[in-house]
Amino acid sequence: MKRICFASGNKHKVAEIAAMLEPLGWTVEPLVLSVEEDAPTFVGNAEKKARAALALSGLPSLADDSGLEVDALGGAPGVLSARYAGAGHDDAANNAKLVAALRGVPEERRGARFRCALVFVDPEGARVVAEGVCEGRIGFAERGAGGFGYDPLFLVAGDAAGRTMAELTAEEKNRVSHRARALARLVGELGELGGR
Ligand code: IMP
Repeated sequence: MKRICFASGNKHKVAEIAAMLEPLGWTVEPLVLSVEEDAPTFVGNAEKKARAALALSGLPSLADDSGLEVDALGGAPGVLSARYAGAGHDDAANNAKLVAALRGVPEERRGARFRCALVFVDPEGARVVAEGVCEGRIGFAERGAGGFGYDPLFLVAGDAAGRTMAELTAEEKNRVSHRARALARLVGELGELGGR
């Protein structure tokens, strides 16, 4: 098994990434970092975290930065998704703020997407960047107990049963999520690098 450091303390993200990379022969070693996520883009923040992880671990390192873009809010909360309700607030506060911000916005104008940037760097100087999106709509109320973050409010586009991301099984989420799509692209590019 090849070792890869994943720069995140979010146990949900670690579980999602490990479920996707372990079948490909990678052992995922999570690393909790204190890096200020002050870049204006998802790629910029992911790269900061990946480089910090490489410097600390010496291992090939992967980091993600992700968030929710809501059309009716001009793309907010975007890179500020984790702190939408303010620093130190939790998922429940973020979701409550989002429901309030979209009060009165009709179904057809509630379009949104999750976006994920992944950056991989290794000690030999490789740098691979991949992005993935998952399209959907923001519901009027939370539904479902799976996933994390905005999942209970996010109605997944194309789901025949009209479920939120939090109503999918972990396996179903890992097939359609922004993180899964970014990772599929990244793995394709790592393969081209010679499977490091
Ligand atoms: P990050 O840890 O800086 O990348 O912040 C990501 C934030 O975006 C999280 O705190 C969530 O609020 C939101 N987010 C990212 N990915 C997901 C997901 O898969 N489901 C729900 N919310 C997500």
